[in-house]
Amino acid sequence: MGEEHPEPAPETLSAGERVLLIDGRRRRRLITLTPGDVQHLHTGTLPHDQIIGQVEGSTVRTSLGAALVVLRPTLSEYVLKMRRGAQVIYPKDLGPILMLADIRPGDRVFESGVGSGALTMALLRAVGPTGHVLGYERREDFAARARHNVEEYFAGAALPPPAQGAARALPLTIEIRDSYEGIDVVNLDKVVLDLPEPWQLVKHAQDALRPGGIFLSYLPTIGQVARLCDELEGSRFAMVETLEVLHRTWHVKAPSVRPDHRMVAHTGFLTHARLLAPSD
Ligand SMILES: C[S@@+](CC[C@H](N)C(=O)[O-])C[C@H]1O[C@@H](n2cnc3c(N)ncnc32)[C@H](O)[C@@H]1O
Repeated sequence: MGEEHPEPAPETLSAGERVLLIDGRRRRRLITLTPGDVQHLHTGTLPHDQIIGQVEGSTVRTSLGAALVVLRPTLSEYVLKMRRGAQVIYPKDLGPILMLADIRPGDRVFESGVGSGALTMALLRAVGPTGHVLGYERREDFAARARHNVEEYFAGAALPPPAQGAARALPLTIEIRDSYEGIDVVNLDKVVLDLPEPWQLVKHAQDALRPGGIFLSYLPTIGQVARLCDELEGSRFAMVETLEVLHRTWHVKAPSVRPDHRMVAHTGFLTHARLLAPSD
């Protein structure tokens, strides 16, 4: 690059940021960088001031000489480390949900229940500043936990304001509501559900979605899926499909190259469908 366009210097880690400390056995600890604080680890102590000002990806050493890599957490890492109220949807399913529901910038998405906010964060990143996520959560304590997690994750992170100079506000509304009683908005692009009886929401979703809109439900058991599919059958939803995502990691270290011995065998089933226009 010429002098007029100098390469931007890598942004260094600053006070208040959350970072992961990763040891030689890939164990991760999520910390908030606080001037003057000292991290006490079984491999020694580490003053936060030693990390502040470093470039992401640097290696720092504890008082006993143990090496730790410092990285900002990815969304997947944050979801696995954040405090939870309700059980979260794991990254292995979050990615496919975004694709199957075709969540894109500008989408208006309804989500229920909000739980710990893991899916909410993935949805917010995908709809961007021009979209909106409306979440109904029955439990006040879970909604508060989700709001906290979401705000903490996006604090300082990218979701630029829609217009230059406008105040940054997350395009998110969480209401304490029982979604089985109905959805109070119309013309939604997507309805994404993670609650025990989604069949109770099929009629509501049909009224709330625009034609062509997408319905997606995450369910842990196949009995629930069968009940949901029965309800979708008698509705205006079509192209119903159910799948599960198997995620198997591999041990790749010569001469032993093979699948890992352990895997998460089951999390949940994803059922998705498209809403057709009303017929005459
Ligand atoms: C498994 S959790 C959702 C976790 C969330 N998807 C995440 O990734 O963090 C299910 C949530 O649905 C909520 N819920 C169950 N039935 C509901 C209903 N009828 N209306 C609104 N929320 C409901 C529960 O309170 C719970 O917080």
